Formats: sequence, structure tokens, C-alpha cells
Amino acid sequence: MSKVSVIGAGNVGATAVYYIAEKNVDEIVMVDVVEGLPQSKAIDFLHAAPLRKYNTNIIGTNDYADIADSDVVVLTAGIPRKPGMDRMDLLKTNVAIAKTAAQAIATYAPNAVVIVVSNPLDVISMVVLREGGFALKRVVGMAGILDATRFRYFIAEKLNVLPGDVMAMVLGGHGDTMVPLPRYTSVAGFPLTQLMPADEIEKLVQRTRTGGAEIVNYLKRGSAYYAPGASAAKMVDAVVNDEKRICAASVYLRGEYGHSDIFLGVPVLLGRNGVERIIELELTPEEQQQLDESARAVKEGVTNLETFYRPG
Ligand code: NAI
Ligand code: 2OP
Repeated sequence: MSKVSVIGAGNVGATAVYYIAEKNVDEIVMVDVVEGLPQSKAIDFLHAAPLRKYNTNIIGTNDYADIADSDVVVLTAGIPRKPGMDRMDLLKTNVAIAKTAAQAIATYAPNAVVIVVSNPLDVISMVVLREGGFALKRVVGMAGILDATRFRYFIAEKLNVLPGDVMAMVLGGHGDTMVPLPRYTSVAGFPLTQLMPADEIEKLVQRTRTGGAEIVNYLKRGSAYYAPGASAAKMVDAVVNDEKRICAASVYLRGEYGHSDIFLGVPVLLGRNGVERIIELELTPEEQQQLDESARAVKEGVTNLETFYRPG
């Protein structure tokens, strides 16, 4: 029996539940503080079951106790950004929410793999780890899959090829300093660097870095949720079904890539135990410098966090 809980039944949480229902999971619990919201969405998802062909028990609740014994908990609770806001602007509000959620997960589902989605992603992942006292490999932030899927799509659109045939790797913090890696990107096995001139690749790298903001500027009242929901569901699938999937994700580093005591996006192998391995790629000096720059931005966020936050 596999059980997944999703905290936050807003745009990302509900979208993730919809995709997770199709991933061979027995039960999904959706928790939100707004009365009636998770309940209404759960019933709506169940009504779609005959058409979408899933047989998953989906429960909406306002009671954290219902997440008991989950294999995976996805944290999406928190406010999204609006036009003109940086992900870091969400820090104070979302730290308070993450604290409550992490304590509840530690109480009711202490052995779950926790997939963090709430922003600012790399800093909130640190709060969840500190607050919940979880094993390091059991806290993993979702960003690399999303940033890479955007890069993959932009490449496919430009080359007029099947999006799923493009594989890409994006490292670093989930922010404007993220590090898309063209050298580790390919189309059906052909290196991207042989398929597109460097200046064209650079344009797509830049569009990837601002991919989230592009949507916020159109949407105005919030941020993206379909691709983020699908990305979180992909990670859930990897854990629940022990896929041993390689993807980039934000994980706690202890010297890998030259960084310690920080959550940063790097390639990992995801399976039933969470982060089963951190994969160290060889980087050029320029790629390493970009990653260091990105780590500096995340560290600034953690320093900011420490001005008002103490664990417990
Ligand atoms: P939303 O506003 O649609 O939903 C957030 C939900 O959290 C609301 O329903 C709210 O009632 C709920 N909530 C607030 N406090 C709670 C608590 N203590 N316990 C349970 N639920 C609680 O926002 P949306 O669009 O779903 O975004 C959620 C978060 O995900 C934001 O912080 C956003 O920035 C982040 N995000 C991260 C991405 C990533 O790549 N890591 C991608 C997209 C969004
Ligand atoms: C995104 O990249 C807002 O982090 C969110 O769309």
C-alpha cells in the first residue's frame, strides 16, 4: 500500500494530486488550512476517476493527523509570488508555514520522503530539514526537473522535435542564477552543442532562467502550476515506485561540488529511500563559477533567514 500526502491544496498542490493519481499510488491525502477546499477538490478528482482510469483513494482534510504513515509528503503550502516579486520576497510568510508543516510531518509521518515545493525552494528545504529533524536523504527540493523541462521544451520548440526526446540538466538554486548545462543536454543522444549555435543556446538558457517570471507576468495573481505539479508528481513516482530516476533536485550538500551546509540543485538518483546518490558531474571552470554564484545567492537567503528564524 503506498500513501502520498500533499500539503497545500492550492494551484500547485491540487495539480500535483491530479497527476499523482495516475502514478500507481493507493491513497492520496490533501491537507489545507482552508475549510472545504481540500475536501471539494478530492471529491472532484474522484469524479474524474472513471474517465482518467485511476483507482486511487483521494481524501481532502484540514487535519494533519490524516497524513499518518505516508511514504511521501509533498509540501506546496505557502504563498506564490506576484509580478515584481522575487522568490525570496516570500521568505517570512512561507517559513512560518513550512515550520508548522515540518513539525506535523515529523509527528505523523517521520519516515516519509519529503518533497519540498514551496518557495524560496532551497531555503525552505533547509527549514524543513532543521525543523523536522529528518534524515538528510529524505528531504529533497523540487526545482531541477521543472527548470530542465522548461529548457527541454524551449529546445524542442526551436528545433521542431519531440519535446520528450530532449534531455537536459539544470543545476543551482531555484532562482535567476540557476545553471542550465548545454554540455549535458542532448536530443535523442545528439549533443545540443552540435545542433545549435552557441548564441541561440544562450537565448534559451536565459529564457529558462526567467521561465517562472514569464508566467507570473502574464498570470499576475500567482505563479505557474501545471508544469510544477507535473514535476512534483514525477518525483513522487520515482520514490513510490522506486524508479532510480536521475534528475536534478535541491539536496543538502556536504562538500559535493565544493559546497557544504546548503541545499542546492545537483543531479541525484531518486528511489524509495529518497536521495539514494548525489552524482558529481565534471564541470568546466566557467560552469563551476556559475554554480558558485548560484550557491552564493542561496547562502544570502539562508543568512536572511537566520535574522528572524531559529529552529524549534
Ligand atoms: P496557492 O496560493 O494556490 O496555494 C497555496 C495553498 O497553501 C493555499 O491553498 C493555502 O491555503 C495553503 N496553506 C497555507 N498555509 C498552510 C498550512 N499551514 N497548511 C496547509 N496548507 C496551507 O499557491 P501555489 O501556486 O500552489 O504555490 C504554492 C507554493 O509553491 C508557493 O510558495 C510557490 O512559490 C511555490 N512554487 C514552487 C515551485 C518550484 O519550482 N519549487 C513552482 C511553483 C510554485
Ligand atoms: C516557478 O518557477 C514560481 O518557482 C516557481 O514557476
